Amino acid sequence: MILEKFSLKDRVGIVTGGGRGLGRSFCLSYAEAGAHVVVAELDTQTGPGTAGEVESLGRKALFVETDVTSKENVFDMVEKTLEAFGRVDFIMNNAGVVSQGAAETVVEEEWQRVIDINLNGVFFCCQAVARPMIEQRSGSIVNIASMSGVIVNYPQTQASYNASKAAVAHLSKSLASEWAQHNIRVNAISPGYMRTDMTAPHIDNPEYGGKWLAATPMGRAGSPEELAPLAIFLASDASSFMTGSEVVIDGGFTIW
Ligand SMILES: NC(=O)c1ccc[n+]([C@@H]2O[C@H](COP(=O)([O-])OP(=O)(O)OC[C@H]3O[C@@H](n4cnc5c(N)ncnc54)[C@H](O)[C@@H]3O)[C@@H](O)[C@H]2O)c1
Repeated sequence: MILEKFSLKDRVGIVTGGGRGLGRSFCLSYAEAGAHVVVAELDTQTGPGTAGEVESLGRKALFVETDVTSKENVFDMVEKTLEAFGRVDFIMNNAGVVSQGAAETVVEEEWQRVIDINLNGVFFCCQAVARPMIEQRSGSIVNIASMSGVIVNYPQTQASYNASKAAVAHLSKSLASEWAQHNIRVNAISPGYMRTDMTAPHIDNPEYGGKWLAATPMGRAGSPEELAPLAIFLASDASSFMTGSEVVIDGGFTIW
């Protein structure tokens, strides 16, 4: 049956930044699709909450306090996953931050913070899961980039974010090229404006949100649940011939 290919029944997946926003939604959707979920999250308030919600859907969950900028933390996250479940079938590299400010005055520490979380963090997570995935000869890696890596957002100024997300998309292709021989697929999702804690204050601010929605053919922001089917598709066997792809899902924003 074709829909069985989308099933994640008894697969083991890690979601970084799973405490809130898109990450929380991915955790719950993966659990609904049958997966056991490791919630890897910096925030010790929200992470355990999501893990509890996964368990209430009848799946196993593990909260691991993780700062994706720490290579040691990230390798420990994978080690704890293997101790608890014996394998890791997919990872959703979702943790990310945005920072706004004019490029000519942005301070080095702020530039570095965004690159450390959004790019270096994704790379460490990919490297850490690739090792057991190479041994088990299977795995799917899904990286959250952004349409901000395709277009330059306006009117806000966020060069570090835009550059980091373009890099995530190209990193995904590079790793897909290296690891196809090990039966590991690596793809990227580039969302447009989605309503989350990160974006809601800006979407509701006419100075920003009004311009964004006017530039979106569908005339609205997306909801986290509208990304979930794509996230399931890319983690599952339904996308078995797909690697190195970047899927833009943006209500048409990048058409104009
Ligand atoms: N919301 C959007 O419109 C949108 C659009 C395109 C891309 N994205 C990307 O989607 C991802 C999720 O965005 P969101 O809107 O849900 O953001 P959010 O701020 O609501 O959630 C981000 C989560 O990541 C966690 N996090 C931050 N730094 C971390 C670190 N160092 N280690 C581990 N976890 C960390 C936070 O604690 C939080 O739970 C980000 O990568 C973002 O860039 C979002």
